[in-house]
Amino acid sequence: MRWLLLAVFGCATAIAQPMPSNISLAAIRTDEKERDQREKIPDLVKALGLKPGSVVGDLGTGYGYYAARFAKIVGPKGRVYAEEIDRPLLDKVRQRMKAEGVGNVEYLLGTPDDPGFPSGQLDAVIISDVYHEIEHPASVLAAVRRALKPGGLLLVVDYLKPEAGTKSRSEQVKDHNIGPGFVEEELAKAGFAVLERRAPYCPGYDGIPTYYILAR
Ligand SMILES: C[S@@+](CC[C@H](N)C(=O)[O-])C[C@H]1O[C@@H](n2cnc3c(N)ncnc32)[C@H](O)[C@@H]1O
Repeated sequence: MRWLLLAVFGCATAIAQPMPSNISLAAIRTDEKERDQREKIPDLVKALGLKPGSVVGDLGTGYGYYAARFAKIVGPKGRVYAEEIDRPLLDKVRQRMKAEGVGNVEYLLGTPDDPGFPSGQLDAVIISDVYHEIEHPASVLAAVRRALKPGGLLLVVDYLKPEAGTKSRSEQVKDHNIGPGFVEEELAKAGFAVLERRAPYCPGYDGIPTYYILAR
């Protein structure tokens, strides 16, 4: 089963596959149960300062793992913007939220260089297991800055394979990972101040250390 999941899911695995949209909601639930054992959602919620009424963006939402969890935290007075560039995946997220009775999610079909979040309305944005896939990080980060309220927070969650530490950015990206140093450099260029680097944050599917960078 683990092999199957590794082959099917693209998230936080060494075997980076595109995420299929023709997957059952039961399979998504099974994967997320396993993810819940490893990931520390309460830590992310605390880092992002999420509370009832918060407005949060999930850039590259995939199957909506974070969007579903954050929707519960921000509650009916809050809002989650679940963004994807892959329309069938976004439809899958809509389907899952409907099945789960989640009503406080907005679905955004973005482009590779602009998530399309509304300007100046977000308290926080998460970019998890997506940053290493972004081809134009400067444009995406500029769009995220525009979307955040003053003082709003950005959390980048990604991973670096232990053997990849000395490789160039492009070599790392080709191998579907990226070092936190490159991310921090690009955040700084986009006008973000790094507040915290937590490395490791949690183990990925196959034990690859995941880190997070919190910025304002
Ligand atoms: C490995 S999945 C991670 C999904 C989700 N964030 C999670 O942690 O479960 C990466 C997702 O990022 C999306 N993606 C890739 N480039 C993107 C971009 N420039 N903007 C938004 N999403 C992007 C892909 O379509 C894919 O669904």
